[in-house]
Amino acid sequence: MHTDTILVTGGAGFIGSNFIQHHLASGRPRRVINLDKLTYAGNPLNLEGVSQDERYTFIHGDICDREAVRRLLLEQHPAAILHFAAESHVDRSIHGPSAFIQTNVVGTSCLLEEARAYWSELAAQERDRFRFLHVSTDEVYGSLQSDDPAFTETTRYSPNSPYSASKAASDHLVRAYHHTYGLPTLTTNCSNNYGPFQFPEKLIPLVILNALKGKPIPVYGDGANIRDWLYVIDHCEAIQAVLERGNIGATYNIGGGNERTNLEIVRTICSLLDELRPNDPIVPHENLITFVKDRPGHDRRYAMNAAKIESEIGWRPRETFETGIRKTINWYLANEGWVEQVTSGSYRQWMASQYSL
Ligand code: NAD
Ligand code: TYD
Repeated sequence: MHTDTILVTGGAGFIGSNFIQHHLASGRPRRVINLDKLTYAGNPLNLEGVSQDERYTFIHGDICDREAVRRLLLEQHPAAILHFAAESHVDRSIHGPSAFIQTNVVGTSCLLEEARAYWSELAAQERDRFRFLHVSTDEVYGSLQSDDPAFTETTRYSPNSPYSASKAASDHLVRAYHHTYGLPTLTTNCSNNYGPFQFPEKLIPLVILNALKGKPIPVYGDGANIRDWLYVIDHCEAIQAVLERGNIGATYNIGGGNERTNLEIVRTICSLLDELRPNDPIVPHENLITFVKDRPGHDRRYAMNAAKIESEIGWRPRETFETGIRKTINWYLANEGWVEQVTSGSYRQWMASQYSL
């Protein structure tokens, strides 16, 4: 086993690509192998900054392809697997759940099976050091009322969308592989992320890009749904900390302590853009806000209690929402080429089918 090698799945997506870049920039001597299928959400451009780094290797492949995963593990001999690969967008899961079951449930079970086979053949010391870290979401806990306490690691699972149900199933499989076979797993459940390289089907980048172009900003229902927003680099640091210091078999909630209604998020972005882009087609940008039909089964509120990761591991977010959102908007303004590339082709078809504005 190469103690300096980690395998990342789904590393060409939003969080995975931020993680890889942050990890390599932090000066850790580790080699990073990125296994990614390159679905619509996976973009090699996200990793342009590290593509020449000799510590980085990209492998195009599917986590459901057990033969390929087996070969990869034997050839690359990683000391840890960090499992980000997933179908991740709730609205798409409502239109077509099958891909979510395939990658999030079947794919995770394939990866676990191959990880178990690989891990069980390692020498004793290597076996003790090996980790399987599963990246999951707060959405598995379901929806909170306005006065409910935030989710803890012992909150009952209550997933409401095909996406969250498929992630819940994957969390249960990871738990079972630890409980039954002793696989040294770690699970993180994180709140909504935002930041650079997020595909603009998700709320924050979609609002930024529509506002810049003077297009309607779609707000589902009454806009009063609440999410707990975390800057993506804070999430990456939490994952790194759990990998290094987490208790085997444990799960950790990660959150930003930044509960906001969707309308507050949208208004904050609009007023920052009024300041940064006073000559855009429609100013004030808020005039673009358009209430649209609600998402079916739309969860009302998510909130994370991150006390466990804070006390056991010593992780805390660095960014406030105000600092993180400003960085994020500036990144989208500075990266027009990336925006051009991701908003061509199939993105247009998705926007046309999802929003008839
Ligand atoms: P994303 O949709 O941006 O990226 C997913 C990546 O996985 C893409 O690069 C895609 O090509 C790859 N992938 C998909 N199916 C694959 C397969 N079968 N084999 C190999 N690669 C495959 O997702 P994201 O927002 O970066 O989320 C990453 C992980 O974090 C997911 O597991 C998600 O559930 C979890 N998560 C996301 C958020 C969030 O706010 N985005 C919050 C908490 C947890
Ligand atoms: P999203 O970014 O899809 O994340 P999730 O559903 O996983 O929390 O959506 C965040 C919130 O924003 C959610 O309450 C749905 C809402 N939303 C809109 O109001 N309009 C939109 O166009 C999108 C994509 C989301």
